[in-house]
Amino acid sequence: MKAIGVDLGGTNIKAAVVDNEKGIVEQVTTPTQAKLGKDHILNRIAETIGDLKKKYEIIGIGMGLPGMVSKDQTTVKYPPNLPGWTVVNAAEEITQRTGIVCRIENDANIAAIGSLHFGVGRNFDSFIMITLGTGVGGGIIIDRNIYKGTQGMAGELGHVIIDYHGPLSNSVTRGTVEAYLGQRFLSRFATDLITQNPSNELYEKFSNDFEKLEPIDLTNAAKEGNKLAIEILAKSGQRLGYAIINYVHMMDIRKIVVSGGVSKAGDFLFEPARDIVRKHMMEPFKEGFELVYEDLGNDSALLGAAGLAFDSFS
Ligand code: BGC
Ligand code: NA
Repeated sequence: MKAIGVDLGGTNIKAAVVDNEKGIVEQVTTPTQAKLGKDHILNRIAETIGDLKKKYEIIGIGMGLPGMVSKDQTTVKYPPNLPGWTVVNAAEEITQRTGIVCRIENDANIAAIGSLHFGVGRNFDSFIMITLGTGVGGGIIIDRNIYKGTQGMAGELGHVIIDYHGPLSNSVTRGTVEAYLGQRFLSRFATDLITQNPSNELYEKFSNDFEKLEPIDLTNAAKEGNKLAIEILAKSGQRLGYAIINYVHMMDIRKIVVSGGVSKAGDFLFEPARDIVRKHMMEPFKEGFELVYEDLGNDSALLGAAGLAFDSFS
């Protein structure tokens, strides 16, 4: 039995044919070009699926996307990093374009479920997944189940406010975790600090075009001992630490799993976060606290998305 898993990200669309016994059979990646808008993206997804559908018998499509998803797993509402999307019944739109039934789910929820089944999450009954990518997402696993909230949208950890005087991350909310740790914003913050330090190597490398500066460049520079890169990641890590304290105080879940592109900075980000936790978390919550890195990558997102189709349509 085969389903298609789709991972719609801010940067790339990934799709895979997944066999319920053999795992991923074939995989395709294509750029999202989010600025071109909703119909462009949905058409690209449908074209990609159209190619796969010719070769395999498919029972359904499951798709992870970067926004709040209705409890019936059909509709995404105002995804902050997909310009021009408002309320979109993406499951229906994909079915119209492909002729295949479809269900959708929040990308970070899928990452959490992926970690629970295939990753470091196997070690924990309850944990909080934080995904650091274009946006910052969350998935809350309680007793090996994803916590969905009353309308299906729980765990929007990226939009928790850690400084109400802080910068905007979307049109309404200031100083959110995403405004500091989302890829776009982290690059902007880095650009500001690098511009103030023109003698730093990073200035030489990127001042012509700061658009090219990615979090991975900071990580690489930090590994080579660049003090400014280390400082930028440390400041970001401290903010992550404050966010984590809020999550733990609220949920009394003490295992934190972090994944996504920005998390590749590893301990340059995590040690400063742990430091803040040691200093500022309420004492009773410290016992059993752990902050770990999830290195599963794309496969788990695709397997998780396909799993959604197996659950819904088999
Ligand atoms: C969205 C979340 C999503 C996260 C990661 C946030 O901006 O609100 O729904 O999970 O980005 O893509
Ligand atoms: Na979520």
